[in-house]
Amino acid sequence: MAPKSLLYTLFSTLSVALAASIPQTDYDVIVVGGGPAGLSTLSSLGRMRRRTVMFDSGEYRNAPTREMHDVIGNDGTPPAQFRALARQQISKYNSTSVLDIKIDSITPIEDTAANTSYFRAIDANGTQYTSRKVVLGTGLVDLIPDVPGLREAWGKGIWWCPWCDGYEHRDESLGILGGLPDVVGSVLETHTLYSDIIAFTNGTYTPANEVTLAAKYPNWQKQLEAWDVRIDNRSIASIERVQNGDDHRDETGRQFDIFRVHFTDGSTVERNTFITNYPTAQRSTLPDELSLVMVDDKIDTTDYTGMRTSAPGVYAVGDCNSDGSTNVPHAMFSGKRAGVYVHVEMSREESNAAISKRDFNRRTLEKQTERMVGNEMEKLWKRVLDMHRE
Ligand SMILES: Cc1cc2nc3c(=O)[nH]c(=O)nc-3n(C[C@H](O)[C@H](O)[C@H](O)COP(=O)(O)OP(=O)(O)OC[C@H]3O[C@@H](n4cnc5c(N)ncnc54)[C@H](O)[C@@H]3O)c2cc1C
Ligand SMILES: *[C@@H]1O[C@H](CO)[C@@H](O)[C@H](O)[C@H]1NC(C)=O
Ligand SMILES: *[C@@H]1O[C@H](CO)[C@@H](O)[C@H](O)[C@H]1NC(C)=O
Ligand SMILES: *[C@@H]1O[C@H](CO)[C@@H](O)[C@H](O)[C@H]1NC(C)=O
Ligand SMILES: *[C@@H]1O[C@H](CO)[C@@H](O)[C@H](O)[C@H]1NC(C)=O
Ligand SMILES: *[C@@H]1O[C@H](CO)[C@@H](O)[C@H](O)[C@H]1NC(C)=O
Repeated sequence: MAPKSLLYTLFSTLSVALAASIPQTDYDVIVVGGGPAGLSTLSSLGRMRRRTVMFDSGEYRNAPTREMHDVIGNDGTPPAQFRALARQQISKYNSTSVLDIKIDSITPIEDTAANTSYFRAIDANGTQYTSRKVVLGTGLVDLIPDVPGLREAWGKGIWWCPWCDGYEHRDESLGILGGLPDVVGSVLETHTLYSDIIAFTNGTYTPANEVTLAAKYPNWQKQLEAWDVRIDNRSIASIERVQNGDDHRDETGRQFDIFRVHFTDGSTVERNTFITNYPTAQRSTLPDELSLVMVDDKIDTTDYTGMRTSAPGVYAVGDCNSDGSTNVPHAMFSGKRAGVYVHVEMSREESNAAISKRDFNRRTLEKQTERMVGNEMEKLWKRVLDMHRE
């Protein structure tokens, strides 16, 4: 019958056209980064059966550290072990996958015909992947100066985060590395752990830096005196390891490293451990490539909810975002948070698409029915009325 096949054609055309408002992609979500932030997003999305792939180039910020701390339930766990267990547990959610490769580029694609957009990522092998959303957990890199001995000791007796590494060196002799303006901050963070503190300002004890420090702490000199902090302004040539705390620990978890600082004038001084103040930078060029709004070189998520960024569909989690918190618990929290928001955002889109499809179908059906059977109905109705009159 002609009307039936007409309806059928109409319906199938409609379904195809409107389903396209949810883009047909390889994945729901591409997560870039396999640290605690990316892993948390992957876990959260996997448990909601979202098709999610996590890319991991294997460059982890805490890779050099002996053990991680201040991560409850995992105090003292080596980071590699932590990540491996996370991957193993997440692997049972079979809508997730992990690819150990670097993502070289991510491009937002506008499909104007279907009134929708999605992302295309290309990995280091040139393979392309598409997704509806992108979560960046690409992390930071520490910009450690090229001073002989320093980088080798990074995370192994020389550290930047007292919560991460300070306690294992408690009551040992501490050195502060970095510029004069950062000295008071380092002391305030560590004075409960150390009483023998020397700030090695390495030539930065200058009038200009005194002004900078005084702007933040007008009585900075008195504060340093209060904690018996000495300033050593000699220029540092190298840092030599004399003893490795890996092999010198006690049963309480204390690590006994010894370093010898060599100054350019040939003199030396020994310290057990150092806190540093060096800058960081984005690990990845993807935030730049996606033209994300940045705050102090961090991806701005502060001005948006749910770890969203300035770019629709792009989220940023962990160290790389502007939360001002760079540690494993924050990476897990923010990764998890994005996982929730990205899932619900997609669900909302799916829900809207389903509603508009239904509405559209019903309206069209009514019109078509009216047009096709309208005349017949009128005749029938008249006949019914006539019958009643009789
Ligand atoms: C020496 C040291 C010790 C630390 N100790 C502690 C500690 O004890 N406790 C604590 O809470 N915090 C510690 N931290 C901080 C902790 O390392 C970070 O807060 C945490 O790693 C942040 O997690 P993330 O997932 O954001 O980034 P990361 O762990 O740095 O992971 C970044 C991920 O992104 C990937 N990636 C980047 N670009 C790309 C790309 N283009 N394609 C594919 N993959 C990409 C990397 O390969 C990596 O998988 C320490 C940091 C350092 C430097
Ligand atoms: C995942 O597992 C379920 C059974 O738990 C199965 O129905 C589904 O097809 C699997 N999906 C994939 C992508 O393998
Ligand atoms: C495109 O989709 C958006 C919702 O994602 C909607 O607000 C807008 O009206 C649509 N535009 C057209 C031309 O259909
Ligand atoms: C990338 O290419 C190399 C070399 O061909 C291959 O071994 C590797 O499995 C590829 N990785 C991915 C994720 O496709
Ligand atoms: C000491 O200062 C010099 C000169 O500015 C710099 O190159 C070097 O990296 C600094 N050393 C340390 C340990 O910060
Ligand atoms: C610290 O060292 C720098 C560089 O050698 C020098 O200019 C400055 O005067 C020194 N500061 C003090 C207080 O001696």
